[in-house]
Amino acid sequence: MDVPRKKITIVGAGHVGATTAQHCVEKRLGDVVLIDIVEGVPQGKALDMMESAPLLGFDMIVSGTNDYADTANSDVVVITAGLPRKPGMSREDLRDTNANIVKEVTENIIKHSPNCIMIVVSNPVDTMTYVAMKTSGLPKNRILGMAGVLDAARFRHFISDELKVSHLDVHATVMGLHGTDMVPLPSHSSVAGIPITELISKEKIDKMVQRTRDGGAEIVKLLKTGSAYYAPGASVAEGIESIIRDKKRVHPCPVYLEGEYGLDGIFMGVPCIIGADGVEKIIELKLNDEERALLQKSAESVRNSVKQLKV
Ligand code: NAI
Ligand code: 2OP
Repeated sequence: MDVPRKKITIVGAGHVGATTAQHCVEKRLGDVVLIDIVEGVPQGKALDMMESAPLLGFDMIVSGTNDYADTANSDVVVITAGLPRKPGMSREDLRDTNANIVKEVTENIIKHSPNCIMIVVSNPVDTMTYVAMKTSGLPKNRILGMAGVLDAARFRHFISDELKVSHLDVHATVMGLHGTDMVPLPSHSSVAGIPITELISKEKIDKMVQRTRDGGAEIVKLLKTGSAYYAPGASVAEGIESIIRDKKRVHPCPVYLEGEYGLDGIFMGVPCIIGADGVEKIIELKLNDEERALLQKSAESVRNSVKQLKV
């Protein structure tokens, strides 16, 4: 029996949106609709990607549009629309501008794809996912943010680089908000099952933890005109793959918390099982007192950000 192809809409055909689209077709996850407010950009990037199909050998269709009617009945929708950071800006500086964009985009998306699973990327992502949930009315399992996969990938890279060991054998856990109060967890990070605390000195781990927290800013400082998109695009595509292929991977993602970790009514990064039903289960790790305190501080920052929203 033929299985219908999945439809993935990516809102925002900028750096992260286009990179995500390219990964999606190369991984053969489904047909991709790229939509943007700027005329010509999604169409041009989609055509450019289609012209790579004969070389890369994918048979998925990427199309570009400015019309939400073309996004109808999407299975997965990714929101990357909004401003990125420039040097000297924090993610919070983007809050009100991006909240208005995310609200407008979500209203348009939900009219045409009321049953989608939505992944929010626009920053500050924990707060933007909250805006998208309130606007869309989607149930909490069908809406999540993307951040922890990226933050954990950064931490994994630093560990792998330090130990000169394959990235594939490095596991890292990062929780909390996607910002300066993020909570990388060395106690839940390992190489081939060996805790990194047995392999790397505390001093070096502390430096890696701080570099992970500052990972986005490090790239912004180097690029000067915008923020990271290769690792973010790959991280979003990994999340989409878990949903579309029902992989049930454990990803750290901003999801809606209702009592887990003693937190309520906010989106914040925690490890979850991601599959065909979206957020299928939140995993509660055993944390020590210090880790719990860091998570509470992170949650407080998210609450403050949501409180200050002007949408
Ligand atoms: P970009 O500037 O390259 O792309 C943003 C796109 O959004 C532009 O093409 C713009 O025309 C479009 N856009 C703006 N308003 C729109 C609207 N109302 N409707 C449709 N499209 C609209 O920026 P980039 O680098 O792709 O980043 C996008 C967002 O993702 C930023 O907010 C950035 O901070 C965030 N980000 C989040 C990450 C995470 O881990 N959660 C990682 C990387 C970026
Ligand atoms: C990052 O961490 C900008 O949030 C984005 O690279």
